[in-house]
Amino acid sequence: MTRYNFNSLLVLIFIICGAIISEAQNREVITLKKGWKFNKGHHPEAITSNFDASKWENITVPHDWAIYGPFDKDIDIQKVAITQNRESIATEKTGRTGALPYIGEAWYRNEFSLSNFNKNKKVLILFEGAMSEPEVFLNGKKVGEWKYGYSYFYFDITNYINDTNKNTLAVKLTNTGLSSRWYPGAGLYRKVRVIIKDKINIKQWGTFITTPIINKELAKVNIKTKVSGKNVKLVTTIIDAEGKLISTNETDALFNNEFEQNLAVKNPELWSPETPYLYTAVSTLYSNNELKDETTKRFGIRSINYDQKTGFSLNGKVRKFKGVCLHHDLGPIGTAINKSALRRQLRILKDMGCDAIRSSHNMPSIEQLELCDEMGFMFLAESFDEWAKPKVENGYNRFFKDYAEKDIVNLVHATRNHPSIVMWSSGNEVPDQWGTEGVKRAKWLQDIFHREDPTRPVTVGMDQVKATIESGFGALLDVPGLNYRVHLYEEAYEKFPQGFLLGSETASTVSSRGIYKFPVEKGIMKTYDDFQSSSYDLEYCSWSNLPDDDFVLQDDKPWVIGEFVWTGFDYLGEPTPYDEAWPSRSSYFGINDLAGLPKDRYYLYRSRWNTEDETLHILPHWNWKGREGKTTPVFVYTSYDSAELFLNGKSLGIQKKNTETHQNRYRLMWMAVKYQPGTLKVVALDENGNPVAEKEIKTAGKPHKIILESDVKTLKANGEDLAYITVSVVDKNGIFCPTATNQLTFKVDGEGTYRAACNGDATSLEMFHLPTMKLFSGKLIVLIQSTEKSGKITLSVKGKRLKKEKLALPITD
Ligand code: GAL
Repeated sequence: MTRYNFNSLLVLIFIICGAIISEAQNREVITLKKGWKFNKGHHPEAITSNFDASKWENITVPHDWAIYGPFDKDIDIQKVAITQNRESIATEKTGRTGALPYIGEAWYRNEFSLSNFNKNKKVLILFEGAMSEPEVFLNGKKVGEWKYGYSYFYFDITNYINDTNKNTLAVKLTNTGLSSRWYPGAGLYRKVRVIIKDKINIKQWGTFITTPIINKELAKVNIKTKVSGKNVKLVTTIIDAEGKLISTNETDALFNNEFEQNLAVKNPELWSPETPYLYTAVSTLYSNNELKDETTKRFGIRSINYDQKTGFSLNGKVRKFKGVCLHHDLGPIGTAINKSALRRQLRILKDMGCDAIRSSHNMPSIEQLELCDEMGFMFLAESFDEWAKPKVENGYNRFFKDYAEKDIVNLVHATRNHPSIVMWSSGNEVPDQWGTEGVKRAKWLQDIFHREDPTRPVTVGMDQVKATIESGFGALLDVPGLNYRVHLYEEAYEKFPQGFLLGSETASTVSSRGIYKFPVEKGIMKTYDDFQSSSYDLEYCSWSNLPDDDFVLQDDKPWVIGEFVWTGFDYLGEPTPYDEAWPSRSSYFGINDLAGLPKDRYYLYRSRWNTEDETLHILPHWNWKGREGKTTPVFVYTSYDSAELFLNGKSLGIQKKNTETHQNRYRLMWMAVKYQPGTLKVVALDENGNPVAEKEIKTAGKPHKIILESDVKTLKANGEDLAYITVSVVDKNGIFCPTATNQLTFKVDGEGTYRAACNGDATSLEMFHLPTMKLFSGKLIVLIQSTEKSGKITLSVKGKRLKKEKLALPITD
């Protein structure tokens, strides 16, 4: 259990402000992390205080009960025709939701005490997501329930509190089969908090900060604050990123239950992906000069504009979204939210030059938004994959009527102060794109967003472009989002009134890291006996396209305001084009694989998105025993325009990007190379044909030694920090072995634990949490986790006939 008392923060703030606090504060936030008991099955008896849960499993929250597997073909087998994928005949889809045991009922139980509870207190319990259909009980009584597993929600539990100091919390979760199109995870996979405050208080999610006027000299910061209590006074102070007091305002003008303040910030530092500058607003609420409550909210000063003529601009500068779609699972740790895992994803995306994320197709975690604010990513926050009409039998359609408005209100209220969010999405490829009811629903949902947040536009990712042109569905949206359908961009632009289009979902190109297929040619829904897809990046789905096709539109059409690639990382479930091919159980769409290791496509996007750093990347690998003399094309993804290729010192000619085909425009391709082992070298050339950079890859011999590389240098002793160790093998000469599949075992010593491993192979049935795994294309990652003690953590990795290796990292307080 982590407790935050706001005293210390306020003391700090008020020391900075030169003021002194004379009152003890009354807001306390308890994060219920430890002490949880968990059990699958039906356990209604667990709601009472005297129930003996000692035999239940001890777990910490966030928790995903299903990620420990085992994978099983029969779990959630879906006999369906996926109409979105243009299928008309129902077939058996095996790994559609990841083949992990997420279905069923399960119970969580915890106890907490309140140090300062009295009749003047208000107590809330807040869930940032609970998968799914949560029912919450406190001290034997039902407090409330929710439905959608991705929603944030809270209940007032003041009247359920025992004054015995021991409060028994029980949460029932129920997941039904046929309820998702991807792995939804299972359990209390996001934070659970208890908030204790005075009855006179600032309401939960009651603060709304906007920056309606921004110029170089001055920004107007508008803060609306909802409170409970009469005859109260609110003091709000803005503090800059260095902790300096910038502006303060005091008001007692309460309209209904809301204060409105305008604060001036001189020479504002603007938030953008390149300069993610954050301010903090501290609000303190007084009644009769007695301090009653306080909140701190981070915010950014930035302007967004969507203009019929110029498209999207941030802080007055026109730009296009270089975005990726992400599902919420974190690969080997499942859906249990973890900030280091999210931070690593964002670091990888940052290096690629990506500047935007779409939380497909649901509410993002608060942690992800915090990191996007800090690290500089724009955010498209989505809500639903279905409205009233189903995609899957037991999907959100069951809850739409009763919950859609509540879910949107909570999404907006809980997240609207994040400067990273620049757009909302009310849906993805909803079957309601068909029919007049759907048009009304689109308007209704958009109006709710507008009512709750007049500052951001709303989109829907549309795949039924013709139908939405006809019906008016697309015309009413603030931002028309097209999923794929590159051939309909022109028509949609002409027929929709907005003057711009967003590539709300693009590419859906498929590949397996380090796997290459011959002959090298474009393929639609291409499948192979090994259930892998080629990393020449020429394979896609019947409804989708290649990255280059999107690049052409992004580059040539000023009215296209950017793209969100499907997807930044592979995710559990939806193993297209192997939906029916067991044991495929995770996606092939990722620019990075399920382990977060970059596929070749990563360098293709990097070569155009990362405008600061050079990209020069050769594919395929150069270990092709048996292909001697056979045509083995070589592609180079580079930020340079032309390059010369050499095989064992012999020039294979110069290639220059050109407009002959979409691929020629963005890739350098030597199609006729005949394989010979040895050294493949690429030399990049400037406009005058002078060499400016080079890269080489070599044919490797037998695996000899293990290499370990960590993504971080130290870990924090907080019990949840992760290091991602990339494990690879090299030959005697230190050359990376790109086809190695050695079985490795892992051991962790010191102040840390082994958490999981992942090799990015979409067909692997090895469980992530067991300390052994095979390399896939020469690599895998191991996740090690800190405890709450400082010291050292050591990972040892060994495999048959390999020189074993150790890596130690310090763990600091
Ligand atoms: C889209 C859909 C995504 C995913 C993707 C795969 O149509 O919105 O959720 O299914 O296709 O290509």
